[in-house]
Amino acid sequence: MTLTVDQVMELAPVIPVLVIERIEDAAPIAEALVKGGLPTLEVTMRTPIALAGAQFIVSPGLTETLGKAAIASGVAFLPGIATAADIMRGMDLGLSRFKFFPAETSGGLPALKALAAPFHTARFCPTGGIKFETAGNWLAESAVKCVGGSWLVPKGPVDTHRIEELARAAASLHG
Ligand code: 3PG
Repeated sequence: MTLTVDQVMELAPVIPVLVIERIEDAAPIAEALVKGGLPTLEVTMRTPIALAGAQFIVSPGLTETLGKAAIASGVAFLPGIATAADIMRGMDLGLSRFKFFPAETSGGLPALKALAAPFHTARFCPTGGIKFETAGNWLAESAVKCVGGSWLVPKGPVDTHRIEELARAAASLHG
């Protein structure tokens, strides 16, 4: 199934950001998250085992070369932006859906609101420093379609019950 980037952003309010260290953990983590109500999973390319098929692509930033390649692939693309110039580079390529990254250290919600005002057709998935406790504030902003975060999978041995519980709480968030 080919998903549009809007469909990717609308499937759930939270996209878990995953760093999979051991391949045998991948399926149990994914199953617990999906069971908890979060079907959209971002697998970071930070470990050698991360490379696999994907229905959407996320990048921490946006260059013209990467943007053109991602668009040519036909796969839904959510590039990272943190400044007005980043957004304008994306809009030059016809993009209007962005990951605001790293969200909290790039000025947090006030920065996102300030960026969203002139670029009123743009929609965002803030990621970076967002926790369950703060996610609702971000989701209340109309330019925010979803948020991303790594809090759904606590570090240490995989506890699928805990992951499912965290996912269920996150899935019930809304703006
Ligand atoms: C990302 O890659 O999007 C971030 O590392 C996730 O940020 P967090 O760990 O602060 O949630």
